Amino acid sequence: MTRKPLIAGNWKMHKLLADAVSTALELKSLVANVTHCDIAIAPVFVHLKTLAERLEGSNIKIAAQNCSTETKHSAHTGEVAADMLKDIGVSYVIIGHSERRQYYCETDEMVNKKIKAALAAGLKAIVCVGETLSEREEGKLFEVVGRQLKFGLEGLTKNDMERIIIAYEPVWAIGTGKTATPDQAQQMHEFIRKNLAETHGIETAESTKILYGGSVKPENIKDLMEEPDIDGALVGGASLEASSFAQIINYR
Ligand code: 13P
Repeated sequence: MTRKPLIAGNWKMHKLLADAVSTALELKSLVANVTHCDIAIAPVFVHLKTLAERLEGSNIKIAAQNCSTETKHSAHTGEVAADMLKDIGVSYVIIGHSERRQYYCETDEMVNKKIKAALAAGLKAIVCVGETLSEREEGKLFEVVGRQLKFGLEGLTKNDMERIIIAYEPVWAIGTGKTATPDQAQQMHEFIRKNLAETHGIETAESTKILYGGSVKPENIKDLMEEPDIDGALVGGASLEASSFAQIINYR
């Protein structure tokens, strides 16, 4: 089974509009000939429509960083429904990022509802899982990620799973400059794939992309991508500059 890699840039809460547009356009020209992987960038909500328009027809797709658990247009001040994202040209939505779990109290149950909302709107969901440093040190890493997968993906059919991408982002590696070694990442990716085989069948497990995230840089992407179960990357800091993100995309 060959899985086409996905390299996605999570811009988090960075950039004013003019900077977002110029970075996106610079990236567009730098990766115009790339066909070996899919590419996405995830700017803040208020830049999504402009970037979707400016990148239309290019090989860079747009991802949102969150969506509402609610699907019905209704009284939920400050929330954005998944179909509103689809409507303005968004393709993917990142769900359950550790920063949202940590700072905005997102639970596995909310992650599950958001995934279902995203899929119902026709979006692909990049579902983030990962353990904290203390959980790793206590030897609970597989238990934690296993639980996030079990409850996060609960009730999803084989069909639904075709639009699910998993991103393994160990919390201790995010924004710290400490990348998981290729071995550490591979070990967890293999666990995730086995877990998917148990819950959703071998075919789903084999076809699901599993991205690694956490201090991915031009210097470490190649070794990570050589691991058999690493199918791409979710990149934070190093995706903010077009040149370094393009180097990561061109890891080969
Ligand atoms: P950094 O690449 O900055 O460590 O961030 C990773 C991340 O959280 C991507 O979602």
